[in-house]
This record gives sequence, C-alpha cells and structure tokens, in this order.
Amino acid sequence: MGSGKGGVGRMKLGSQGLEVSVQGLGCMGMSAFYGPPKPEPDMISLIHHAVRSGVTFLDTSDIYGPFTNELLLGKALKGIRKDVELATKFGISFIEGNRVIRGDPAYVRASCEASLKRLDVDCIDLYYQHRIDTRIPIEITIGELKKLVEEGKIKYIGLSEASASTIRRAHAIHPITAVQLEWSLWTRDVEEEIVPTCRELGIGIVAYSPLGRGFFSSGPKMIDNLSDGDFRKILPRFQAENVEHNAHIFECVNEMATKKGCTPSQLALAWVHHQGSDVCPIPGTTKIENFNQNIGALSVKLTPEEMSELESFASADAVKGDRYGGTVSTWKESETPALSSWKGE
Ligand code: ATR
Repeated sequence: MGSGKGGVGRMKLGSQGLEVSVQGLGCMGMSAFYGPPKPEPDMISLIHHAVRSGVTFLDTSDIYGPFTNELLLGKALKGIRKDVELATKFGISFIEGNRVIRGDPAYVRASCEASLKRLDVDCIDLYYQHRIDTRIPIEITIGELKKLVEEGKIKYIGLSEASASTIRRAHAIHPITAVQLEWSLWTRDVEEEIVPTCRELGIGIVAYSPLGRGFFSSGPKMIDNLSDGDFRKILPRFQAENVEHNAHIFECVNEMATKKGCTPSQLALAWVHHQGSDVCPIPGTTKIENFNQNIGALSVKLTPEEMSELESFASADAVKGDRYGGTVSTWKESETPALSSWKGE
C-alpha cells in the first residue's frame, strides 16, 4: 500500500499498472436505486470532497439512472479528471421496461462511445462488463473490449458478477485488471472460488455493497426509512421477516464496534479491508459525514481473533434472504457458450 492524500493510501489494482485509492466511492445511490436522485450540487460537492480526501477511485455505470449518474460524474470531474480513476460499466439495458443483458460487440462499442460522451472524457480508466451476457461467448465480448483498449478509449478491463470459469476464459483473451463482486460480512460466497481465481491470475478485487447496502450501518431500522422507489424494498434480505431474523447480526457487530470505539460501518468496512491488499471496497454514500466516517475504517485494526468473532456473527447459516430476487443475473448464472459453438450474431 502506498501513501496518498489525507491518510487514504494507494494500491495497485490488478497487474497491468492501475493504481487506485485503497477505498473507492460508489456513486450509484447519488442518482438511482436507493430512492430519489439526490441534489446535484450536493453530490458534486461530495465527489470533490472525496477526491480532496484522497478517495479518487470513482465507480459508476451507464445503468445508474440510467445515464444520469454518468452525467453527474461528467460534471463533477470538470477540471479534476486527471486526479481520479474513473470506472464505469456496460451490459445492462432496459428494452421496453425489460432488463436485457448484452455483450455483443456492437453493443459494447456503442455503450463505450455513449459513456465517454456522458462522462465527457477521452478515456475510461476501468471499463467493466456489468453483467455477463450468457448468449455470447465471453471471448467475443472481451475481444471487442481489447479493441477499445488498443484504440485508447479504455485503459483497463473489468468484469462484474462473473464466475471463476468466465473470469479465466476472459483473462486468456486480454488481461482482466479487476473483478467487482459483492463482498461483505453477510455475502461471502465469492470466497470459495472467485476470490482464489482472481488471486491466482493477479486480478484486483473490488468489493461492492461492503456495508450490506446500509444494513451494517443502520441495522434493521433502516427498512422503516426506505422511500418508495428504493430498490432494497424488493430485495429478499430487506423483507421484514428476514430483517427481523438478521437483526441480531447487526446487534453483535454494533456491540463489538462500541467496544472497539468505532462505528458498525467502520467495523464492517475494516473487515473487508482486512481481506488483503488486493481488495478495494467501494462503499456508497450520499453524505459527507458518512463518507468521512467510512474513511475512518482505514484506521480500524482487527486481530485474527476479532475477524473470526465478526465472521461467527454472520455465518452463512445465520443470514436469511438472498441478496437478489429471481430476475437479476449474478455470477451464478454467468457461464457463456463455448467459442467453438459461436456462429456469429
Ligand atoms: P452500495 O455499494 O450498494 O452502495 P453499501 O456501500 O454497502 O452499498 O451501502 C450503501 C448504503 O449505506 C447507502 O444507503 C448509504 O446511505 P447514505 O447515502 O445515506 O450514506 C449507507 N451508508 C454508507 N455509509 C454510511 C455510514 N457511515 N453511516 C450510515 N449509513 C451509511
């Protein structure tokens, strides 16, 4: 880990030369999914504050809004583009209200061009395939991304919600710099195969929803405050009966946090930071005070005993409710057809 501004260190992400802040900023909730969009001037101030504090790794996607989150970043980055590492994603589109995953070359290229315009930049630092199109061999999608690297439109390639075998096949076509996955105290299934595969291949790991989408920050009471449009309202884990069951996990984390003199958010984040120097959590927030609290997690040190204790609170058996509902594709449904079977589009 290197040193950065404001005590926020720097790290190498992957093996191709990308360097980012050891904690990133998830920007999704500023524009979408977690209730109504937040006021633009406030979000621009928050982004500027983050960058000044040394959190320079900014995460967005074309589907956040859709499009408005990238437009927000485009405005926020005026004059500070060179100070940040900008990550966006393609692959989820809505056609007549239906969620369609696309990884065909024409779509990849068109999405990249459109993101570059919205972000108003010449180049995207890290371009992720947000979800895997299971109709297209991964080699075909990565082949197009490779061309975008060669043309200087993107610097590094990432995958999100990809299985170990899909990651392996993709990496054989062009080095994958980072895999983004949900990793937190209550989402640990990635540890079995995906994390070891990334480590074997020298791929950086970006942990999204490290605060359990806010559950480890606010606990069960958060579901009483979700606004109508908040997509957590439809996630199994945030249904009342599951929240009630999972409440004790938060209580245990909160109690341990009190003993350690930190907040539960900081403890949950520190647990992710302690997974290794190749892991970069990207907590999302829309508030400067929460952002400040989250970078405080970097000073929370955990012993192996404390790590085990935390893990015992949130064992797989103890957590009730899936992280997504039925229609959302995850790494579990990310196998793509063999390249040899591909007859073109
Ligand atoms: P995601 O990656 O999906 O954004 P996350 O990082 O696990 O998920 O959690 C984000 C949620 O935690 C947001 O609802 C955020 O709310 P605010 O925008 O109000 O901050 C909440 N959150 C983040 N940091 C927090 C903190 N320190 N205290 C309280 N809530 C926090």
